[in-house]
Amino acid sequence: MSLRGATICGVGSCLPEQVLTNADWERMVDTTDEWIVSHTGIRERRLAPEDQASSDLAIPAAQRALEDAGIEPEQIGLVIVTTVTPDYFFPATACVVQSAIGATNAGAMDLTSGCTAFIYAMVAGANFVRTGDYDHVLVISAEVLTRIADWSDRSTCVLFGDGAGAVVLEPCAQDEGLLSFALGSHGEHGDLLVLPGGGSRMRLTPELIAQHQDCLKMEGHDIFRLAVRGIPRIARRALAKAGLKTSDISAVIMHQANQRILDASADRLKIDREKVISTVGKYGNSSAASVPMCLDDVYRRGGLAPGDIVLFVGFGAGFTLGAVVVRWTLPRFAAE
Ligand code: ACO
Repeated sequence: MSLRGATICGVGSCLPEQVLTNADWERMVDTTDEWIVSHTGIRERRLAPEDQASSDLAIPAAQRALEDAGIEPEQIGLVIVTTVTPDYFFPATACVVQSAIGATNAGAMDLTSGCTAFIYAMVAGANFVRTGDYDHVLVISAEVLTRIADWSDRSTCVLFGDGAGAVVLEPCAQDEGLLSFALGSHGEHGDLLVLPGGGSRMRLTPELIAQHQDCLKMEGHDIFRLAVRGIPRIARRALAKAGLKTSDISAVIMHQANQRILDASADRLKIDREKVISTVGKYGNSSAASVPMCLDDVYRRGGLAPGDIVLFVGFGAGFTLGAVVVRWTLPRFAAE
């Protein structure tokens, strides 16, 4: 039985400097700003330069979260990184980050679960804190999604952006912090969102690379349908475990894939659309990193106060779903 809770005690993010606008995409593929905005809500996204890998975004995001938490790197017991664009197959990107930030007393591991991975990693990290095994766990999601996008496929390339976000977890009272969670997987739909080549299933050859088998493939329509059906279900499961109702929610921080998914989920959950925080217009879809990037954005704008019930939701490749209910404990952020 758990003797203590786990809460978010520090938040940080890192964005590549270069902004890639819809006008930039109009010059590269057969698309329009009007189509992208009306179908997705995306206006711009960030683009990492060729020499920037996921860990290069994860490290500053982690350092900002540690600074926000007032925690020294040596106090971290475990570093969890989620990414679908790791620096390497191995070593784990978490090991690269652990060493770079000086978390000399920490274990380190990568966790993958597509765009839902930040939710899975928060749950895993919180459980290490709850059991008393670690007092501080660092959870980071970092993605250079533009590197696995097919830049010639207009139906996917315009959607994705790069970035990283991080949180530090620490112990708290049992009725605060992460109150409940629900996780789900529908592996039968794995083919709807897949990076086919480069793993042990399909060794890459020059021919396969020429066919863009080293790039992400997505059946957007089907993913859309699974998302808008699955999000309310997983959210209600997590809320029920916490004994809460949708009317108790102060803010929803959801995977930022498409404004239409955010709006449809709000409507199906009967939550005001304004409570579903949106950063998709300025950052696009940055896979699992989108949730902590969105969290950092709203937190640093002073949008969260102690006691707020925050619903986190993820969905994506797998097909996976996850939701976490948090009673927020950090003071309202006041910019200096
Ligand atoms: N510019 C102009 N036209 C386009 C573009 C583009 N960039 N992309 C597609 N089109 C065209 C298509 O060719 C099609 O034309 P047609 O009717 O002549 O055949 C038309 O627009 C409609 O295409 P659809 O794919 O049906 O468009 P839809 O309304 O479904 O929107 C989108 C596509 C935005 C991808 C949507 O399906 C979506 O958001 N799906 C969910 C994706 C998602 O949530 N992913 C999250 C998990 S994955 C991850 O995060 C990594």
